[in-house]
Amino acid sequence: MRRMPLTDETVVAVVGAGAMGSGIAQVAAQAGHEVHLVDAAPGAAATAREKLSTTLARLVEKGRLTAEESDGILERIVIGPAADGDLKALPPVGLAIEAVVENLGVKHDIFDTLADAHDDSTVLATNTSSLDVNAIAANLRAPERVIGLHFFNPPPLMKLVEVVRTTQSSGDVLTDAMELMRAWGKTPVMCTSTPGFIVNRVARPFYGEAQRMVQDGVADPATLDLALREHGGFRMGPFELTDLIGQDVNLAVGTSVWLQTDRDPRYEPVDAQRQLVEQGRLGRKSGRGWFEYDESGQPLDVAPDEGRVRELVGGPVETDPVARTIARLVNEGVDLVRRGEACAEDVDTAMKLGTNYPKGPHEWLAEIGSATIVEQLRALDAAFPGGRYRVSPALEG
Ligand SMILES: NC(=O)c1ccc[n+]([C@@H]2O[C@H](COP(=O)([O-])OP(=O)(O)OC[C@H]3O[C@@H](n4cnc5c(N)ncnc54)[C@H](O)[C@@H]3O)[C@@H](O)[C@H]2O)c1
Repeated sequence: MRRMPLTDETVVAVVGAGAMGSGIAQVAAQAGHEVHLVDAAPGAAATAREKLSTTLARLVEKGRLTAEESDGILERIVIGPAADGDLKALPPVGLAIEAVVENLGVKHDIFDTLADAHDDSTVLATNTSSLDVNAIAANLRAPERVIGLHFFNPPPLMKLVEVVRTTQSSGDVLTDAMELMRAWGKTPVMCTSTPGFIVNRVARPFYGEAQRMVQDGVADPATLDLALREHGGFRMGPFELTDLIGQDVNLAVGTSVWLQTDRDPRYEPVDAQRQLVEQGRLGRKSGRGWFEYDESGQPLDVAPDEGRVRELVGGPVETDPVARTIARLVNEGVDLVRRGEACAEDVDTAMKLGTNYPKGPHEWLAEIGSATIVEQLRALDAAFPGGRYRVSPALEG
């Protein structure tokens, strides 16, 4: 079967018209593609298109888009016979992107139907955040055309897309997908279907180390957030950030990575966060997480101890939130590369664009030096044994 490359003429189907699917449809239509939007909930695809028309009208008002451009985008988003979930009613498409609920059975059924109904050259992509793309591709017809296209929220604004290759993905399909994402104005990085891909894997210590330090009584959340902002260059501290993301969402991602890595102690969720979730303290959305919020979403009880920040930063690594966090981020980044899951440049790009880190793990490594990072990890391992701080072989030698 001759493979048709992905081009700007490619007709696209987006399955799932929720937060991610509707944003991905917008991005594809903005790049000039005809996009068929599908959602199992009756009327959901049409509603998503109506919402988009309001968003675009606002952009036209602000002068960020012309009325013609806005009309063109909306015209290209087709609410056709398949819109309410009848996948078999889709016309032939060159690329189908699935963004439905995070459930392997549901996703696999959708891929099965799409694989049978479409030519073997149709590229099938999933936007899953945490499922193994190999499992989604398993037992499908022509599995070499299955990849992950992991967009970040919200897709129209976030530049990063993780292009995920399975053990069977064809090199041509991956090359085309990278090129297509660039044509859509995105910055693609490539990785294997490793748990958490690049961003959700490497970022785990940013949350876990700070949570452990609160649990051990080193400092309170506001003080640690301040230290990581002021001395680490992070735009937000881990506590204010997880309150924004939702403690339940952040814990679910961490737990998923931990379980998929056979409970690797590097990713073990922290009791303090589990308790928060059990108590319904989910963050801003529930009015209370690590911090308390008023009705307008403003935090109420944030009083960092600046003196304590000065005591901790630059002191022993066990109680230095910045050095401890960065040592572990570096260890994660280099280990991902050592295992062949992604290249160093892509890891750095992904962390800077996906999580807004000021530097990528390899940039920190070049600045700090592997001898110092290894020394810090060894000190942490001695203080907290059990494998959480084991040094990546990539740093030794
Ligand atoms: N929200 C995020 O921040 C984010 C970021 C990256 C990736 N993701 C991933 O994107 C996917 C979608 O997430 P979301 O936040 O847009 O979810 P969402 O709940 O906003 O939307 C999911 C949509 O899928 C529809 N749906 C469910 N089953 C379907 C089926 N069988 N056929 C067609 N449509 C169906 C639902 O009606 C709903 O409209 C998930 O896999 C998620 O892990 C989410």
